[in-house]
Amino acid sequence: MATLVRVCGIVGYVGHRPALDVVVNGLKRLEYRGYDSAGVAIGTGEHLAMERKAGRLANLEAQLDAVGRARFAGTSGMGHTRWATHGAPVDRNSHPHSDTAGVIAVVHNGIIENFAELRAELESRGVEMASDTDTETTAHLIALAYTEGETKADLAASVRAVARRLEGAFTLVITHAEVPDLVVAARRSSPLVVGVGAGEHFVASDVAAFIEHTREAVELGQDQVVTITRDGYAVTDFHGEPASAKPFTVSWDLACAEKGGHEYFMLKEIEEQPEALANTMRGHFGNGRVLLDEQRISEQDLRDVDKVYVVACGSAYHSGLVAKYAIEHWCRLPVEVELASEFRYRDPVLDRDTLVVAVSQSGETADTLEAIRHARSQKARVLAVCNTNGAQIPRESDAVLYTHAGPEIGVASTKAFLAQIAANFLVGLALAQARGTKYPDEVAREFAELEAIPDAVRRVLSTVEEMRALGRRLADSKAVLFLGRHVGFPVALEGALKLKELAYMHAEGFAAGELKHGPIALIEDGLPVVVVMPSPKGRATLHGKLLSNISEVQARGARTIVVAEEGDERVRPFADHLIEIPAVATLLQPLVATVPLQVFSAEIARTRGYDVDKPRNLAKSVTVE
Ligand code: M6R
Repeated sequence: MATLVRVCGIVGYVGHRPALDVVVNGLKRLEYRGYDSAGVAIGTGEHLAMERKAGRLANLEAQLDAVGRARFAGTSGMGHTRWATHGAPVDRNSHPHSDTAGVIAVVHNGIIENFAELRAELESRGVEMASDTDTETTAHLIALAYTEGETKADLAASVRAVARRLEGAFTLVITHAEVPDLVVAARRSSPLVVGVGAGEHFVASDVAAFIEHTREAVELGQDQVVTITRDGYAVTDFHGEPASAKPFTVSWDLACAEKGGHEYFMLKEIEEQPEALANTMRGHFGNGRVLLDEQRISEQDLRDVDKVYVVACGSAYHSGLVAKYAIEHWCRLPVEVELASEFRYRDPVLDRDTLVVAVSQSGETADTLEAIRHARSQKARVLAVCNTNGAQIPRESDAVLYTHAGPEIGVASTKAFLAQIAANFLVGLALAQARGTKYPDEVAREFAELEAIPDAVRRVLSTVEEMRALGRRLADSKAVLFLGRHVGFPVALEGALKLKELAYMHAEGFAAGELKHGPIALIEDGLPVVVVMPSPKGRATLHGKLLSNISEVQARGARTIVVAEEGDERVRPFADHLIEIPAVATLLQPLVATVPLQVFSAEIARTRGYDVDKPRNLAKSVTVE
């Protein structure tokens, strides 16, 4: 029997509005978290009206129309949208799951690691399972707790009793037909926030689910249970002791979580990059110094750092590769950039003078979370660079520097990636300042160059039509290679990742100098090769070397798309297609050079008819290892 593990979106509601509308709209905003199946359970006052369907939320909506939405009249309920990592995403494995009597509904995000044992126990008591999921065991266990012993007829106590028995990471939301004005949720590791409205309350994996109704939210801690009713919420630990949770006001509004006239979130998020960068840097320079006040690492601790590890996954990892060039150059410190999924499985050399920078948009990525747990167990200091307020990674880090990119809904990272690069640069400048490897006027100059980047990105955005047209023309290509050197190498990797995940096209990024050591064998007539050129002035030697690399691929029939600095005349004869970007400081070039590559991949994906926001097999937050 396969265990189904998942990264999901969950929402619960008790209030005065039609719950079905609130829940389905909430799920629409959470669908980026997974889109293998969706389901709802609404308390009608007499029973729980449930529906669930494999596939996108649209399938569930069609099903709701088919059975008649009138059956779902009620002002409390919950819903789920799922991403399965293994096990078939079929109707019967979709959430909510129920007990045998159909009076309890449970939705779940996470993995219950001891589910086989719990399932065996239930089966020995004669309970028959209707699905392959670990979640269903919790529905039966809660139902049993609700009918017996000290927890009888007390839903919150029943949930707490079961939560104490569960191993693994989970968020559960539970409702019972007998108490329709109550929704209970339990949290361990997987995210959960409470939305506080007037005469209504919400629970959800992300504030986006309820942002249209309230911006007042409460961040739950580890191992907490919350009950929501129309009039309030109460938080306890798993033993029923009152517990404190952190209230906060969401700083963005509904418009941020909507497409704003764009066909896809990703296209909107590409456009938002200048603001994302400006917001990330805002307030971080004053009195001639880089200020990282919010980040909780003292100047002395920064001075003591003798080695830096950046741990991250996917695009966030690429942002770390860019940071390596800057931090080593500015701070004279060794920097290792590690795939978070590999980090703790070797034996990295860590001690209290090691700074581990954990970069994560979501702050939920399981690989990164486990990497920082390992780093902290070895006494290293952990600084999170994160885009999500109060997420698990910043919570478990010694310090946090938030990127202020706003919500990123498209599964492919764009504005969060650029914001990560900018935040990593801030960390580098703060280290250089503390260690005295840069004079104050040099730090000020670097920061001023960084501050000028949003305008440079605006200029790039005003000229991307050519790249879009090229994307349409090359949409039938079988593969695309990306080449770069120095900071252009991580840009090449990021360009290739975007193309793979959005257009399902074979794409590889290479350090151009490596070509002759193997990859050049891939070049054949007409193969598109995207080349990220270094500045002819800032990096004259490398520029010359890359021209040679281009000649090598051209000689073998490649079609070259060259991203180069405005005014780079030497490169013209080498470019079948020339995409010009503004000249910026060498280390900052990735912030402008990445943008045309994002546009290129998105356009190829659109031309091929793919959903740019929800590429197949992916989910935005990967909370399983
Ligand atoms: O939330 P995180 O930044 O930790 O996510 C890391 C990666 O999963 C993420 O960057 C992924 O590679 C994106 N889909 C890339 O576009």
